[in-house]
Amino acid sequence: MNILITGGAGFIGSHVVRLFVTKYKDYKIVNLDKLTYAGNLANLKDIEDCPNYKFVKADICDYEAMCRVMREEQIDGVIHLAAESHVDRSIRDPFTFARTNVMGTLSLLQAAKVYWESLPGGYAGKRFYHISTDEVYGALELTHPKGIEPPFTTKASSGQHHLAYGDQFFLEDTKYQPHSPYSASKASSDHFVRAYHDTYGMPTIVTNCSNNYGPYQFPEKLIPLFINNICHKKPLPVYGKGENVRDWLYVEDHARAIDLIFHKGRIADTYNIGGFNEWKNIDIVKVLIKTVDRVLGRGEFEDLNLITYVTDRQGHDLRYAIDSTKLQKELGWEPSLQFEEGIEKTVRWYLDNQKWMDNVTSGDYQRYYEEMYAKR
Ligand code: NAD
Ligand code: TYD
Repeated sequence: MNILITGGAGFIGSHVVRLFVTKYKDYKIVNLDKLTYAGNLANLKDIEDCPNYKFVKADICDYEAMCRVMREEQIDGVIHLAAESHVDRSIRDPFTFARTNVMGTLSLLQAAKVYWESLPGGYAGKRFYHISTDEVYGALELTHPKGIEPPFTTKASSGQHHLAYGDQFFLEDTKYQPHSPYSASKASSDHFVRAYHDTYGMPTIVTNCSNNYGPYQFPEKLIPLFINNICHKKPLPVYGKGENVRDWLYVEDHARAIDLIFHKGRIADTYNIGGFNEWKNIDIVKVLIKTVDRVLGRGEFEDLNLITYVTDRQGHDLRYAIDSTKLQKELGWEPSLQFEEGIEKTVRWYLDNQKWMDNVTSGDYQRYYEEMYAKR
């Protein structure tokens, strides 16, 4: 197969590219990325010379370029991750989000349609897999069943017990109710993907995943930003009271789910991906402080005083919680790491890769592409 992965120089995309390049030596993996501020080819340094890997610098909104790539690389499957992904940026600049996430997805869909419909076999054996977020479902409440303070032990539809901050979860048929410009743009792109199946018969799949964490995440997002700030003893800006709840999944577990769903998922279907792992922001911040301080040999909780409560994010969604029972039951996927293990690995990775962090925070990483291609 020839697979086009968009956004492969970003956080999740780089893990997906690495997994596919190393696992499927007989596939050609084409990583297409515009290299915005969030794209960093240094994330793929270890696999950039693999013979089954190719990088193409392009904007998904450039329809002619998308048609060219589909045709020239004879693409059989698309795994679409390219997007603007940060809620705070979407609040400041919604147009960029509509452009990339909505119009870019549409341009990619249309290019795939035109190319696949030109082939004698049409859509047979083809796949357009769109990676989306749980944020399209809106926000859930924190609930106190029988007066018990959350988190309380609850039973998901899988029958597994886990800690939760409410008794409702996002399911695949939960109504879309996006609140931020980011989630509104992702919701819109999800609708376009499904419309291409329903209208033209394109074999599409959509997945909605919870918050990811792990190596190579851009340090504007909570976990890498705070690890770096604790390390350098800088303030930790907690929005509001830190009461918001997110469901966290280790990024390699998401990449494994994407692999499984790309190959075995049902066409025209939707799968929710999440870790049954809900945390209040303030509790995560404390875990990060404790872990960084221990790894750096500082006194326990020495850096608690870095916590700084700041003005809340506008329209800040209170709680996200995914029910991924369908994926577990139908395809046998489950998260491989407990959160404590995942956080330990993540903290150690950022502390061991200070050069990566320095390159990103100084902006030097944006020269990597020019230097790499100048050498060839
Ligand atoms: P990211 O911001 O780290 O990476 C996005 C990548 O897309 C970057 O490499 C960037 O250069 C590229 N890109 C942006 N605009 C582009 C354009 N116009 N043309 C081509 N490339 C472009 O994002 P991420 O966190 O890795 O998220 C990847 C996908 O997964 C997104 O679609 C996001 O909505 C979704 N998602 C993310 C999370 C999460 O917790 N990070 C959770 C669920 C779903
Ligand atoms: P983020 O990593 O931006 O992901 P998302 O908004 O997609 O969930 O934020 C995770 C949570 O952490 C979210 O509730 C907002 C909060 N947050 C802070 O309190 N301070 C920060 O500096 C950041 C970046 C996020």
